[in-house]
Amino acid sequence: MNYQQSAEYIKQRLSQTGHPIPEIAIVLGSGLGKLADNITNPLVIPYSDIPFFKQSTAVGHKGNLIFGTLGDTPVMAMQGRFHYYEGYTMQEVTYPIRVFSLLGIKLLMVSNAAGAMNPDYKVGDLMVITDHINFMPNPLIGPNLEQFGTRFPDMTEAYSHRMCRLADQAASELGITLQHGVYVAETGPTYETPAEYRMFRLMGGDAVGMSTVPEVIVARHCGIEVFGMSVITNQANDLGDDIKNDGDDVVRAADAAADRMTALFKRLIETSTKPQSTQS
Ligand code: HPA
Repeated sequence: MNYQQSAEYIKQRLSQTGHPIPEIAIVLGSGLGKLADNITNPLVIPYSDIPFFKQSTAVGHKGNLIFGTLGDTPVMAMQGRFHYYEGYTMQEVTYPIRVFSLLGIKLLMVSNAAGAMNPDYKVGDLMVITDHINFMPNPLIGPNLEQFGTRFPDMTEAYSHRMCRLADQAASELGITLQHGVYVAETGPTYETPAEYRMFRLMGGDAVGMSTVPEVIVARHCGIEVFGMSVITNQANDLGDDIKNDGDDVVRAADAAADRMTALFKRLIETSTKPQSTQS
């Protein structure tokens, strides 16, 4: 099976270089690109080296898996993700997650850029994703792959409560303010009309974006714990006539929040692997 062959190749490369197999995988979405520079003793494996792994076709998009350590913790990072709006199938978008599962990944951490319907949010805010509403095709449609998980996976705790608590703790230690909210996923590539933003707000969404949820669904199917964070890059409420959405502004806003987001993820990775202190 292809997933298995991709995973075997990666394991072989790790054992050749003496890198441990990590339990944490980080998808370097918007705002997290710099985290890759913090990984020590990195082993960079281009997607093109990995049998059956999808290639990033988008211009200027890196396509690498990076293995190494953050602090004392072995991690892997996915530099360059696949978006549905680029024309990849849902199986292609989520292919790496199943390979991660076969490697033994226990925790998936993801970031993205999102527009805020919640009027209390400001551009530059970081939002812990507490739940999602999915307006993309479900990546699990089709024959169930029993070796990964059950036909009807539970989604009542798609985003780990344990990790949300640890994020709050890490944020307060670092003096970072966090929002907590529901992420709506839609296909893109268009941004929303004002009526669509209003609809998503009425439905209970706080922020909207074009990624993450396919990976999260497949990770939960495999039993992988998930943590997700959005960087708020634009207002998606009360759009006045003079407010327009623009991809370059979104990238700029995500970059401006990158240092905070990176610091938070680093701290979170340190604490997520430590045993929880028990109340005496
Ligand atoms: N809508 C969809 N995706 C996005 C947005 C948005 O407003 N901002 C950043 N990604």
